[in-house]
Amino acid sequence: MMDQAVRNGTEAQAEHKVEIFLADYEPPKTVVTDIRLVFCLFDTHADITATSTFTRNGDLAAPMVLDAGDMLEIVSVKLDGVAARHSRGKRTLTVEGAGAGGTLEIVTRIKPQDNTKLEGLYRSGGMFCTQCEAEGFRQITAFPDRPDVMARYAVRIEADKASCPVLLSNGNPVASGGLGEGRHFAEWEDPFPKPSYLFALVAGDLGHITDHFTTASGRRVTLNIYADPRDLDKCDHAMESLKRSMRWDEEVYGLEYDLDLFNIVAVGDFNMGAMENKGLNVFNTKCVLASPETATDRDYDSVEGIIGHEYFHNWTGNRVTCRDWFQLSLKEGLTVFRDQEFSADMGSRAVKRLDDVRILRSHQFPEDGGPLAHPVRPDRYVEINNFYTVTVYNKGAEVIRMMHRLIGAEAFRKGMDLYFARHDGQAVTCDDFAAAMADASGKDLSQFKRWYSQAGTPVLSVSRARTGNDVIVTIEQETAPTPGQPVKEPFHMPFLMGWVATDGQAITPVVTGGDWREDGCLLEVREGRQSFTFKDVPEGAVPSLLRGFSAPVRLKSDLTREDLAFLLRYDSDPFARWEAAQTLARDQVLGVTAALIEGRNAPADTPFSDAVESLFADKALDPAFLAELLTLPGEVELGQMMEVLEPGHLHEAREATLNDLATRYEAEMRARYDSLRPKGGYKQDGAARAARRLANLLLQFLARRPGGDALVKAHYEAADNMTDRIAALSAVSDSDFACRGAILADFYERSKDEPLVLDKWFAVQATSRRGDTVQKVRELSRHPAFTLKNPNRLRSLVSSFTMLNQAGFHDPSGQGYRFLAETILAVDKINPLIAARLVAPLGRWARVEPARQAMMLDSLRFILDEPKLSDDVRELAAKSLK
Ligand code: ARG
Ligand code: ZN
Repeated sequence: MMDQAVRNGTEAQAEHKVEIFLADYEPPKTVVTDIRLVFCLFDTHADITATSTFTRNGDLAAPMVLDAGDMLEIVSVKLDGVAARHSRGKRTLTVEGAGAGGTLEIVTRIKPQDNTKLEGLYRSGGMFCTQCEAEGFRQITAFPDRPDVMARYAVRIEADKASCPVLLSNGNPVASGGLGEGRHFAEWEDPFPKPSYLFALVAGDLGHITDHFTTASGRRVTLNIYADPRDLDKCDHAMESLKRSMRWDEEVYGLEYDLDLFNIVAVGDFNMGAMENKGLNVFNTKCVLASPETATDRDYDSVEGIIGHEYFHNWTGNRVTCRDWFQLSLKEGLTVFRDQEFSADMGSRAVKRLDDVRILRSHQFPEDGGPLAHPVRPDRYVEINNFYTVTVYNKGAEVIRMMHRLIGAEAFRKGMDLYFARHDGQAVTCDDFAAAMADASGKDLSQFKRWYSQAGTPVLSVSRARTGNDVIVTIEQETAPTPGQPVKEPFHMPFLMGWVATDGQAITPVVTGGDWREDGCLLEVREGRQSFTFKDVPEGAVPSLLRGFSAPVRLKSDLTREDLAFLLRYDSDPFARWEAAQTLARDQVLGVTAALIEGRNAPADTPFSDAVESLFADKALDPAFLAELLTLPGEVELGQMMEVLEPGHLHEAREATLNDLATRYEAEMRARYDSLRPKGGYKQDGAARAARRLANLLLQFLARRPGGDALVKAHYEAADNMTDRIAALSAVSDSDFACRGAILADFYERSKDEPLVLDKWFAVQATSRRGDTVQKVRELSRHPAFTLKNPNRLRSLVSSFTMLNQAGFHDPSGQGYRFLAETILAVDKINPLIAARLVAPLGRWARVEPARQAMMLDSLRFILDEPKLSDDVRELAAKSLK
């Protein structure tokens, strides 16, 4: 390893960014305590004057090295009012004579209208807006742009009054007024010291809705949501969600909002979902706007969850922030856990958990099992934007959830209180968080912390052995090597289980080394192989395993099909019950797949299809939960379970299973479908939503039967909301119905002025199961409404196809790979962050059958052959080729 000085020197000038390491962390050499920013915004450019009060540590004779982005023009640099000697590196600004501290004034000029990376200050539609996390602030001014430098910000914005009547920044408004020549200004001050990544500015012609929230201690907070004036009718759900979030955080964690004003702005061009800037959250329109006409029930849930997520960051992220970006999961894993719990409390806890497990299995497990696997706390990176991943976010949330389960809700709350008492106003590490939890609970979490440092998904094998009246349950864990980590130590994890006796009743046999609670028996797994003895277990009782998905593992067990069918009927734990259905479904689909590959007849036994009979008979079942039980695992998840992925055969087998279900249960499905159709108009309550969920799932089955054409058409025509309309459109898009063209055209006509709805039109076609989808996707990429510049539009076509349509992407022609590689290179010239986020599916070649594998590798090489490739894409493509 090089030493830090050498590496920094190399980093400053090198053509490519070099990898940086957690182990090399050093405290900042320059610390800024106060900064005043003056923005003069014009159509052609923006001039920014940044005046910082700074102190320095270490060698005071050494020059001061600041981060400076590649889009930045340095106009002047002064120290204590006097012009200072300075020089520009590829990624730095070096200033001579800074001494122990003083005032640094830097004037920069940038061109927001040309900023297609959407990092730093850029324009979306007519509006100016910023995105600074993780390293966007250095595209605004030269600065020690790292989260452990926390300063107080005062901001002045000057702009044209007609085109930018609204001028916003963090904190509180302190002054505003006219400037003559049609210009005006506003000044803002944020009393809370913050890292540069939480800075934000918005200027534009925006409308807003207003509401208020009174905190537990009686502070009256003004809440605004700003959006394009055309979209103001779609902001109410976000506002209600915000108020619910604020109440929830007070009730569950005793955490109140700390300013008098909370602003949210909806932006159409945005790299990610949303951003928790202090007092000024900026949202992708997709994550804030919702109306029955434009948003599905799922979209409503997602808006609620993301509004909550960004709001919760005010404490977990802003008041206590990250020391360095390796600690990203400190705020993201914890905040995802908090938003998941919030959503669970607002809606159905059972259904929410299944949705979260699906995300892990279809996105995080593939990441953890592929070339881009990394720990929840990565220990090295080239480009930090490449580590805003499902591992850091969602597996990070599972790590918090496991802590919560191991120490219990009460101790967890004490740990949170202790964390804030110790670290409010600080930039800290995942170790600091774990220490607060350990100290508050008295639990030793040292082995548990391997979840932060070891990548990979453990495989748990559970088996039973009866000795007399007792049953010994043995749990073995094993984690395969991941890149850079050939050997894994055992994890410490909570394993929640129960027992169901032959009469369907829950029993609680005495156990050695376990602890019975309301939801089951908690076993703490720490060893590679461990046994637990349950006393006096009645003959025939069936264990219910990994209740609540208590650890993010793959489970193998000796449960038989009969055991699973039994659990599906009687288990009181919703996850374990659903998992029984999923396991039967996986068995059935993978059985058919194997037969297809070997050219045999499909197996005669259909364990899942058989078990479904009891589900239709159970009239007490919540329709939303029945929909979950009837939803087969997706192809990506199923593909993970094949030794060698044969995407075409897998697709055919899953389709055959769906057809078998539709054929066998057509009458039940049709009757249930008819009974679920709404009698009155559209409603958003839980019962109406549950009915839509099941009816729309049944529609997909019934579309496969004779008469499906007319049924789907009628469903489309009757739809008075997006949930129903998109369900019909999706069935149509999968089909070769006579009405297909007309319905797709009708949807296009309705949506062409609503960008978020038009995104759905692209996405539905990109996820079609038809055989001609790869050609269709290419065609759609040339559609006049398609653009590589808007991340939502790009993802609606390209990511939907490459990440959600496994069979389409793996079209045997190899055209899917080629299309993706070409798209990545085209996007890389516009927005490298977004280009890099498209790479992963191409990198998962290792487990794919040889013919496709060769074509995937060719496409990766084709990308790496590009001489001007960004560091972002190079990092991931190079890792993927290894
Ligand atoms: N902190 C944001 C969140 O709530 C994500 C911002 C990511 N942006 C980026 N350019 N890496 O999850
Ligand atoms: Zn977040």
